[in-house]
Amino acid sequence: MLDKINALKTEVEALQASSAEEVEALRLKYLSKKGAVSQLMADFRNVPADQKKAIGMAINELKTLATDKINALKEATELAEDGTDEIDLTRTASPMRLGTRHPLSIVRQEIVSIFGRLGYAVEQGPEIEDDWHVFSALNFAADHPARDMQDTFFIQRNPDVLLRTHTSSVQTRVMERSKPPIRILCPGRVYRNEAISARAHCFFHQVEGLYIDKGVSFADLKQSLLYFAREMFGPETKIRLRPSYFPFTEPSAEMDISCNLCGGKGCGFCKGTGWVEILGCGMVDPNVLDACGIDSKEYSGFAFGMGVERITNLKYRVNDLRLFSENDRRFLNEFTHAH
Ligand code: DAH
Repeated sequence: MLDKINALKTEVEALQASSAEEVEALRLKYLSKKGAVSQLMADFRNVPADQKKAIGMAINELKTLATDKINALKEATELAEDGTDEIDLTRTASPMRLGTRHPLSIVRQEIVSIFGRLGYAVEQGPEIEDDWHVFSALNFAADHPARDMQDTFFIQRNPDVLLRTHTSSVQTRVMERSKPPIRILCPGRVYRNEAISARAHCFFHQVEGLYIDKGVSFADLKQSLLYFAREMFGPETKIRLRPSYFPFTEPSAEMDISCNLCGGKGCGFCKGTGWVEILGCGMVDPNVLDACGIDSKEYSGFAFGMGVERITNLKYRVNDLRLFSENDRRFLNEFTHAH
């Protein structure tokens, strides 16, 4: 009987099947009530007592072997048969979780798009700059306070390698390498050595504008900025220009818009004045044109610079600068539908 069991074991080990039906036939042959293993169990009764142990163990081994083998064959044929169905092209795709655009990117993009409609092209320049492009070419006197260590980050104790403190440095670079007419917009990050708080940060973003051609006047500047203000904050928006000072423009001005919260009546946001400041601007100083290789007798131009965080605050009431760089998704997700 042991020989018979061993022969069955060898037979079972070599079993093959290529379909579910074949597997089922094997199950019936070996493991069903009338199968080979049951048959051996029936014969077991007649086994002499001294052989019962060895034969009993052999039958159990055969049963385990057959069960495992047939289960394995079953799994293998099921897999093979399912294989073609595994990629279900008709299934609905799982929803993708989209990120959101950063509020500063949304606002920068809108500024770029508004001036794009007036023919301004986007230009960029390096964030690590030198004194000439950030200050000297822009008519900053050697002892101008803005060069002071307190505002500017210098690199490697070398006063000629610094992080740009404004995007006006891009103006310098573009004027040096191109001939008028020049009509550019320069968005970018700038750095200042400020203690971080809700109202100040060591880096922020600006958009610079520059227009140089023959006969460009202050009236052109005013009209362009009025167009911008109305596109950005709505058609009812008013602007007002206050005299100011920047080394690189003459005359210089700061521009306010009618408070877009109270419509100019006066509220807490505009401190009761009805106006909020949004940018600096002016006619490019002839010294700057000449320093950059543009003949100031032939050409004139205007420039303006605004803080993207400031505009974002006005548009979306984000009044803590730190929120912009914390990457808190609760904050960022508020801008899902903003564009
Ligand atoms: N560069 C100035 C700043 O960082 C902003 C500015 C003011 C830019 C007047 C201009 C301008 O082009 O004409 O505060």
